[in-house]
Amino acid sequence: MQKVDYDLLSSQIISLSEGVEDEIANFSNFSALINSYLEDVNWVGFYFVKNSKLVLGPFQGQIACTYISFDKGVCGYCYRENKTVKVDNVHEFPGHIACDSRSNSEVVIPIHKDNEIYALLDIDSTSLSRFSNEDVKGLEKVVNAIEKVLNR
Ligand code: SME
Repeated sequence: MQKVDYDLLSSQIISLSEGVEDEIANFSNFSALINSYLEDVNWVGFYFVKNSKLVLGPFQGQIACTYISFDKGVCGYCYRENKTVKVDNVHEFPGHIACDSRSNSEVVIPIHKDNEIYALLDIDSTSLSRFSNEDVKGLEKVVNAIEKVLNR
């Protein structure tokens, strides 16, 4: 698999959203940009924290669950723990929500605005153990860039 230049991806997050205040427009392009950089992923998108639950935001991939409660799925766990969650085999994760039944591994990262969780970045793959620790570090850089955009 080709090595991803996460620094370049992060800087493109910043430049792509320069002068754009509309969040739907920004997050739509972020999902498309991240998807274009990563091989072997079948879903890249965002869940926003709204009215005490997770609500589907812009994404690339198949139709997904519109609402996820904080006590459900990998996303709910990521929200509760407020930390990155890498799942090498989703079938072994208790309560995993299979939006796309082809998914086998997943990574979910919290995105903060004003020190609170504002959204989650969720990426799925049909391969087991698709995401290395290096991918996680790189994707956390990408999320830092998104947080800069949100907090600017
Ligand atoms: N698998 C996630 C649900 C979202 S989809 O992967 C797009 C979960 O268990 O929370």
